[in-house]
Amino acid sequence: MAENETRKPILKLENINKRFGGVVTAKDIKFDLFPGEIKGLIGPNGAGKTTLMNIISGIYTADSGTIIFDGMDITNVPDYRRARMGIGRTFQSPRFLQRSSIRDNLLIGADLGNRIGFLEGFFGKKSTNFEQELKDMMDLLHFGFNWDDEISSLPFGQRKLLEIVRSLLSHPKVILVDEPAAGLNPKEINYLMDILRMAARKMNIGVLLIEHSMDMIMDICDSIYVISFGVPIGEGTPEQIANNHAVIEAYLGKEDE
Ligand SMILES: Nc1ncnc2c1ncn2[C@@H]1O[C@H](COP(=O)(O)OP(=O)(O)OP(=O)(O)O)[C@@H](O)[C@H]1O
Ligand SMILES: [Mg+2]
Repeated sequence: MAENETRKPILKLENINKRFGGVVTAKDIKFDLFPGEIKGLIGPNGAGKTTLMNIISGIYTADSGTIIFDGMDITNVPDYRRARMGIGRTFQSPRFLQRSSIRDNLLIGADLGNRIGFLEGFFGKKSTNFEQELKDMMDLLHFGFNWDDEISSLPFGQRKLLEIVRSLLSHPKVILVDEPAAGLNPKEINYLMDILRMAARKMNIGVLLIEHSMDMIMDICDSIYVISFGVPIGEGTPEQIANNHAVIEAYLGKEDE
């Protein structure tokens, strides 16, 4: 986005390398993610997309390279601290406390930054922005349910969407979203795109999005980064990527998505 040029990236990857034995999963990966930007991270199965998210969130350590978050070198910062600093994430399969209520599961996310006011607001003791934020998100998701129900009573698609809501409630500066559309029906995919747009445009969060659905990637992303066998093979706007021969050959030309 043009207006980003004068702004500082919220996340900066510098020459990230990672291999598992003989398998190269990241080779000199470098990109900037700006506040309010939705960047697609795409590539064939096994390209190293999830591994890169694990490196950014601190689950894996890169063999070499530097990760700058909000102007700080976080390369050696442990994962739980990165989460508290404002790197939120969701997983290919949603992760919740299955036996706990929807309310308790969301509170875990909201309280990540130790924002105790959120907790009180949720239980109606005190009015905070939290309630309004949550209401705005729920309106986008068209959800109606009983907060006291067990999270496991919800259909898979709704749980996946709630996982994103949970990560947003902690006010992250960056969210890493791994295949959010997988298993969602077309309506839920539209709601998903609305909430990701809200995260970027209204909350000014930098969104890194892994997704196999090219329709969604082309529709929602401001920029796209493409890797194949850990190697970056293209970077640009959706239009540039759609016309990039290396990308078409390695990825878009393939039969499966
Ligand atoms: N902990 C690990 N130990 C060994 N190899 C691993 C490990 N994690 C990932 N790999 C390997 O790294 C490569 C990249 O895997 P990764 O899960 O990052 O791919 P991906 O791009 O997310 O694929 P998909 O689209 O299927 O989710 C694969 O060859 C995978 O087998
Ligand atoms: Mg993956």
